[in-house]
Amino acid sequence: MIERGEFRRSAPWMLAGAAIVIGLAAVIGLAALYSGAVNVAADVPHSKSVYWLLTTARERSVEARAKSVAVPNDLEDPARVAAGAGLYAEMCAGCHLAPGAEETEIAQGLYPAAPQLAHGTDKTPAQEFWIIKHGIKASGMAAWGKTHDDEMIWNMVAFLQKLPSLSPEDYNALVASAPEDHDEMMKEHKGGDHHHDDNHD
Ligand code: HEC
Repeated sequence: MIERGEFRRSAPWMLAGAAIVIGLAAVIGLAALYSGAVNVAADVPHSKSVYWLLTTARERSVEARAKSVAVPNDLEDPARVAAGAGLYAEMCAGCHLAPGAEETEIAQGLYPAAPQLAHGTDKTPAQEFWIIKHGIKASGMAAWGKTHDDEMIWNMVAFLQKLPSLSPEDYNALVASAPEDHDEMMKEHKGGDHHHDDNHD
């Protein structure tokens, strides 16, 4: 049995011991980091623990941040879905693929892999909006909000709700029905004035 007095006397030594162990671990960790031991190659998967850490950080981060996103109530609007189809085919299908499409070269090489969105996802529309707008660090997923306004991003989210139910033929037809000029389409859709650009005069 350790007497109280003895514990008081040994406590500073225990603290010093713990500090030394933590300090040594930090030095070993930094030495490993600087030696180049961490393999950043995209063709070598993460260890289970690193994978868990990154996946947990990503899922919790998106869940927490998407909570304050207000979802518009017209995601079913066919004009939104068609516009989103055009944007998806143009900007997203290279990595996330189209229904029935073969894996592209970039899709085969990406790590983390881009999920095939035609197979559905466990994300809510608010979470999809947040991911498309802000992107995901250290992955191929870009922040499309730098170049696209919220309306365009919601159009893509509207399309993603339909994507898993589309056959390759449905997909092609929907993409073909997409307006070529998105800004024109939104003006028309909102009943605003609709003018042709110079090329059509
Ligand atoms: C250069 C490849 C690339 C392009 C282009 C791309 N993405 Fe991604 N996307 C990714 C990767 C990789 C992930 C997975 C990131 C991760 O797991 O950390 C991802 C994740 C996502 C997710 C989350 C899916 C889930 O189930 O977790 C959505 C939604 C998404 N992307 C939508 C889009 C949309 C919409 C576009 C087009 C505007 C797009 N992406 C363009 C690579 C890409």
